[in-house]
Amino acid sequence: KAPDLALTPPMGWNSWNHYGCNIDETLIKRTADAIVSNGLRDAGYVYVTLDDCWHGARDAHGDIQPDPQRFPSGLKALGDYLHQRGLKFGIYSDAGEKTCGGKPGSQGHEFQDAAQYARWGVDYVKYDWCNTGEGEAKRNPLEAYATMSKAIAASGRPMILSICEWGENKPWLWGKQYGHLWRTTGDITNCWDCELGHGNWLSHGILPILDMQVPLRAYSGPGGWNDPDMMEVGNLPLLAENRSHFAMWAMLSAPLIMGTDVPDMKPEIAAILTNPRIVAIDQDPLGIPALRWRATPATEVWAKPMAGERWAIAVLNRSDEPREVAIDWTHGELRDDAKGRDPAFATRTYALTDAWTGASAGTTVNTKLVTVGPHDTAVFTLTPNK
Ligand code: DGJ
Repeated sequence: KAPDLALTPPMGWNSWNHYGCNIDETLIKRTADAIVSNGLRDAGYVYVTLDDCWHGARDAHGDIQPDPQRFPSGLKALGDYLHQRGLKFGIYSDAGEKTCGGKPGSQGHEFQDAAQYARWGVDYVKYDWCNTGEGEAKRNPLEAYATMSKAIAASGRPMILSICEWGENKPWLWGKQYGHLWRTTGDITNCWDCELGHGNWLSHGILPILDMQVPLRAYSGPGGWNDPDMMEVGNLPLLAENRSHFAMWAMLSAPLIMGTDVPDMKPEIAAILTNPRIVAIDQDPLGIPALRWRATPATEVWAKPMAGERWAIAVLNRSDEPREVAIDWTHGELRDDAKGRDPAFATRTYALTDAWTGASAGTTVNTKLVTVGPHDTAVFTLTPNK
């Protein structure tokens, strides 16, 4: 795989969470234009990815073609449109014979498909896991993702490979060899704290996904990221929930892939997604996901080591009531044993900045009292005092 891609978590937009199969070139161009005009591109959101259902049929040579009604100008033209605007082009395929949406998959056509993507100027491939067989005939995921990884390398064009096998085969143990990010869960769903069955599979809301990431932090880092799925920011009913979801994905060093309606995005949602201090937490060059430092059933304090001996601290209120959390910095040293780092937290003091507003928020000399609304998250960055 191309080694120097995704040294920080990829950022962009994907069509699936909001539009499902209902995509066409007009929508993608409008979305790209809005990503540029509302400042999202300049905040870092550059990968624009067509998810499932862009496909038409294979032509007489077996080359995959887009749906001619939905993408009449073709995908080379769409890739050019994105590149002319400083964006990058992402596409979706599947390791089975068919995609989840019943379109042609890449099994047996990996090298031909990667070569076609390269001709179109594709920069990012999301590779799904539907229709990969049952029982004895089930495809081996390492073989499947290794094959697509080799096919991309053989195409001669660097492309990020997003491994979308839903965490079933513990891709955090092997994904980094072949790809740049790997899903750790089944699909995300647009709710705060729920799990929805579909077939024999579950979709998870924000809090259940968050809980699933706690034991996985050691596997994620520069060049290979845990992917807790694309964001529902902009889709969740409460503004506080959108804030919390975004803050916690940043704390996790998660890929920040928007999955909402960008042309009709409300300014308060754009403000969340472009918040420079929260984006910087996600994009910190050390790429170390947060640890859950302290937790009660209602409130949690997460801590993320950052470059320059800084930390980010998030105070999450999972409950339906406002809560006050007292952070006594001296009670229980904050250190990151998993990464072998001891930033001498107990012996040093830090200046706090409210990451949402940029305002100074005191120091770690005194216990910090934080009031957090229902389903909301306060975020602070801690800078060592000289
Ligand atoms: C399952 C994936 O997990 C989703 O993110 C999406 O790509 C759908 N398949 C598309 O069918």
